[in-house]
Amino acid sequence: MSTLFEPLTVGGTTLSNRVLMAPLTRMRATAPGDVPNDLMVDYYRQRAGAGLIISEGTQVSPIGKGYMDTPGIYSDEQVEGWRRVTDAVHAEGGKIAAQLWHVGRVSHDSLHDGALPVSASALPYRNRTTVRGGDGRPTRVDCPTPRALTVEEIAATVEDYATATANARAAGFDLVEIHGAHGYLIHQFLSAESNHRTDEYGGSLENRARLALEVVDAVVAASDPRYVGIRISPLGSFNGLEDAAGQPMGLHLAAELAKRDLAFLHLSEPDWAGGPALDDEFRKALRAAFAGPIVGAGNYTVEKAVRLLEADLIDAAAFGRAFIANPDLPQRLRTGAELNDPVPATFYGGGAEGYTDYPALVG
Ligand code: FNR
Repeated sequence: MSTLFEPLTVGGTTLSNRVLMAPLTRMRATAPGDVPNDLMVDYYRQRAGAGLIISEGTQVSPIGKGYMDTPGIYSDEQVEGWRRVTDAVHAEGGKIAAQLWHVGRVSHDSLHDGALPVSASALPYRNRTTVRGGDGRPTRVDCPTPRALTVEEIAATVEDYATATANARAAGFDLVEIHGAHGYLIHQFLSAESNHRTDEYGGSLENRARLALEVVDAVVAASDPRYVGIRISPLGSFNGLEDAAGQPMGLHLAAELAKRDLAFLHLSEPDWAGGPALDDEFRKALRAAFAGPIVGAGNYTVEKAVRLLEADLIDAAAFGRAFIANPDLPQRLRTGAELNDPVPATFYGGGAEGYTDYPALVG
């Protein structure tokens, strides 16, 4: 139990405990402009007791957006909004990372003035996303077949991540996390199912990993390896993407990230979303491939976290839904207090209800 509440050094930052807040899209940024607002400042401030807050996915460019009212990190207004969030978290003694996001094909033309979403390849696929309906409220729609990025556009996309990293630094984030998981753009390049390219970004495992590593290198060049982590989901099916070679790809990436001395590797496990549980053999292989801190997430309880920490298979655990419902989650876990239940109906979109009104323990 005590190991969860010991400090952990992640790159250039020391976290006060190992109960991290997983990245959680909540779709409450201000439109137009996708700007972090006062409500978001309150929400993140309330959760500053986490060893590290990893922000909700924040798009690195307008075309990187895939859902209504998600925040961005490419405009001055967005950077100012995030600055208020990071100041509030720091004032409470917390740490916060920006999750850098490009959704690729998990999007809809109505979010882009009619322009098609982009991906590795122009392949039809089945998935839905959430856009603003005629009544202004969130509505679910089918994702259209995307168009394939050109090589020049890939280079520009990589540059967008570098700019977003400079913006994250300007906004006061302690770290950045590259979102390489859950069937979004980087994952669409990693998986042979969604990537049918015949150029240097498709085909072999090394070629499919090229975009991910170019993004890593660009983000590192815009900051420092000690500032950069990445999230991957090597197993399971997310957003209509199942990656048959996810585990060999995960190990290939881990070895490449180790060479680059990245700050942390964040493993998103799929069993919370109906996928199979990760086995310890894969965890051991990942540990052998990557020497830095490993964060595990997905259906974690105190018991699961302590078991994996004690077996030296992870260094920290990130909690998602439990942090939605319990702003003071680390304190509750430490004292064995009861947990509030999350309410899925208010996860995405809306106002303070189901966002900043979950009660903290008294006293
Ligand atoms: C998520 N998850 C997620 N993951 C991610 O990498 N970026 C994101 O923006 C989001 N957004 C998001 C929103 C909501 C409402 C949920 C429930 C989940 C996945 C999340 O980080 C985590 O991996 C899962 O919630 C599983 O962890 P728990 O909830 O079982 O602790």
